[in-house]
Amino acid sequence: MPDESKAVRAPVLALQGSPRRGGNTDLLLDETLTVLTEKRVVSEKVVLRDLKISPCLEIYACLKDGQCAIKDDMIELYDKLNAARVLIVASPIFFYGPCAQLKAVIDRCQAMWSRKYRLNWKTDQPPGRGYVISASATLGKKVFDGLLLTVKYFFDVLNLEFGGQVLVRGVDLAGEVFDKPEALSQARELGGTAVEFINRE
Ligand SMILES: Cc1cc2nc3c(=O)[nH]c(=O)nc-3n(C[C@H](O)[C@H](O)[C@H](O)COP(=O)(O)O)c2cc1C
Repeated sequence: MPDESKAVRAPVLALQGSPRRGGNTDLLLDETLTVLTEKRVVSEKVVLRDLKISPCLEIYACLKDGQCAIKDDMIELYDKLNAARVLIVASPIFFYGPCAQLKAVIDRCQAMWSRKYRLNWKTDQPPGRGYVISASATLGKKVFDGLLLTVKYFFDVLNLEFGGQVLVRGVDLAGEVFDKPEALSQARELGGTAVEFINRE
């Protein structure tokens, strides 16, 4: 395992949770990442559906030594999550919460929770920033509440302060987000905020 206290964090990691390539959150995320590229900020987009990540199996080995007992693609992702100064998570709303691909990653970060709150591992890194991108088919006022609450606690274990969000209601078919130019410009603004954070450090 890397020594987190000494890890030099890479600038920006983006987790694309949606199982649908070219879907609404994927397009919004790409819009955000385009701004980073334009401003020469290095980012990595990880498409979670391409990885083999088991859900948490409650083995609780992490309570003893902070390490997850399941050896799958999450091992590499732990290193990337530890290294990121900025994390952007993109997920469609599935049953009022994150999609399963993203939720599996979040639950596997119980290992980070154990390190922070049970084993009291310290870091001298200042907090990074976390951003959320999501889309829902319906227009409900509370449709993003579940996702936002989950992500808030996810960011906390990763030592990330909440940086901003792009939440788009009323899009269902892939690409419908293109009918909402204001959503695309919000995604670009989010990219600008992330660039500002990286550059001021
Ligand atoms: C399994 C599943 C569950 C969904 N649950 C909800 C829901 O609870 N509320 C909602 O507004 N939309 C729901 N949707 C619709 C998606 O959030 C919507 O189509 C979104 O634009 C998909 O984003 P994507 O293209 O990035 O995957 C659901 C879709 C699927 C496939």
